[in-house]
Amino acid sequence: MQTAPGRRGQWPAGMTRSNGALPGQPGHAWVMPARRSLASRGSVSRAGLVRRLRANTKVMPGSLDAGRHDAPAASQVTPPMTAPLPDPLEAARDVGRDWVEAAYFTEAEPYADSQWRDIILPFLAIEATGIDLGVTMDLAAGHGRNAARLLPLAGVLHIVDIHASNVEICRRRFGDDPRIHYSPTDGVTLPVPDAALSFLFCFDAMVHFDSDVVRAYLREARRALRPGGHAFLHHSNEHRFPGGDFRRHPHWRNYLSLSLMAHYAAKEGLEVVRQRPLDWNHDGSDIDGLTLLRAPRA
Ligand SMILES: C[S@@+](CC[C@H](N)C(=O)[O-])C[C@H]1O[C@@H](n2cnc3c(N)ncnc32)[C@H](O)[C@@H]1O
Repeated sequence: MQTAPGRRGQWPAGMTRSNGALPGQPGHAWVMPARRSLASRGSVSRAGLVRRLRANTKVMPGSLDAGRHDAPAASQVTPPMTAPLPDPLEAARDVGRDWVEAAYFTEAEPYADSQWRDIILPFLAIEATGIDLGVTMDLAAGHGRNAARLLPLAGVLHIVDIHASNVEICRRRFGDDPRIHYSPTDGVTLPVPDAALSFLFCFDAMVHFDSDVVRAYLREARRALRPGGHAFLHHSNEHRFPGGDFRRHPHWRNYLSLSLMAHYAAKEGLEVVRQRPLDWNHDGSDIDGLTLLRAPRA
């Protein structure tokens, strides 16, 4: 039986269990495989970085270096040791790679009832907050365990995920119900027109997203929500390791905090209705956060 809000040991495929115990059983733990560098995961190789740097190193007519014979040739320039910032699309794809055919989906399914009962519904307080589920989007829907619970509450449900294969699994699960729209996303945009949504829902996914991707989705939320529409975001509150590799953090939480979420939301013109920390790791570290946002009422 689950004793605390989150569930233990949800890691994507590729992780191994230390002792064979099942998630939630005494002694259960996951063992993280040795870290693979960005380069070894095929994202950025050092040679690729150098090539990119050279391609970006133009001497513009009239610039200080133009025509100078002592300017070093491109091949002699030492590249800086820090990698260029990945753009949000690349950051989204990097995280997305963990969620193709992950063991997570089967293992997380049975926890949905208790998570809705103990975490989601008490936080949403739908009647008190006035959330309108008329046109709802389940962002990063995975295999649809939350969509199954949103569907009876929603008029129209948009099921969205970075992987078309996950969206197809949802289509097989829910069929061609005319109330459901199935759409993949590029990883940073919400595939609906402006002011189309009354409610944006994202649970157990944004916790892994790069902060630039979170920011991009907040901008999209502002665009896609109707005036007075709400967004429920379950996100990381893991802010102990700035600049760290999120795959080394407990439960692979990416860098974010409740206050950074509130700050980004304010910059995108969204109001914070309520926030709370969530102790997903059951150790008092409050590595997660829940945030309810509202688009201004015109
Ligand atoms: C841990 S699973 C959670 C799935 C579902 N929310 C649930 O609670 O069962 C994370 C999901 O986020 C999706 N995902 C990852 N990055 C994404 C992005 N940038 N945009 C949309 N979906 C993304 C993955 O494909 C995966 O389905």
